[in-house]
Amino acid sequence: MSKIALVTGSSRGLGRNTALSITRQGADVIVTYHSRADDAERVVAEIEALGRKAVAMQLDTGTTAGFPDFVERLRAVLDTIWQRQSFDHLVNNAGHGDAAPFAETTEAQFDTC
Ligand SMILES: NC(=O)c1ccc[n+]([C@@H]2O[C@H](COP(=O)([O-])OP(=O)(O)OC[C@H]3O[C@@H](n4cnc5c(N)ncnc54)[C@H](OP(=O)(O)O)[C@@H]3O)[C@@H](O)[C@H]2O)c1
Repeated sequence: MSKIALVTGSSRGLGRNTALSITRQGADVIVTYHSRADDAERVVAEIEALGRKAVAMQLDTGTTAGFPDFVERLRAVLDTIWQRQSFDHLVNNAGHGDAAPFAETTEAQFDTC
């Protein structure tokens, strides 16, 4: 059975490179993105061209209220594409840099990074 890795924020940057590296090791990948769906679909196409399965899913890691919906969509994707109820590896990469003095950093800034 193929291993499945979920790489958050893999539509570009380090996450994309991680997803492609995992693909070359022989695993399938769930690609998540925040807003750049087209970039995520391009990564999916690259993974498929390497002979593995992949799917792109929207996820905002800064909004925990959206996690239950993501879990439901993830369960459906796992069942439909892999006929499984779980995945094997999580790479928690999503985020962005935000330069601000520690004492002035807000909770909202912290959550989005
Ligand atoms: N690059 C560095 O030198 C460096 C250094 C230290 C730490 N890091 C950390 O490593 C990670 C990747 O860095 P990177 O340079 O590759 O970043 P990047 O090129 O800006 O890519 C960020 C990725 O995270 C996604 N993303 C951004 N905000 C998100 C949110 N709120 N919820 C879900 N996904 C979100 C983006 O999705 P969209 O494409 O849809 O926007 C994209 O896939 C980040 O967590 C960053 O803080 C990077």
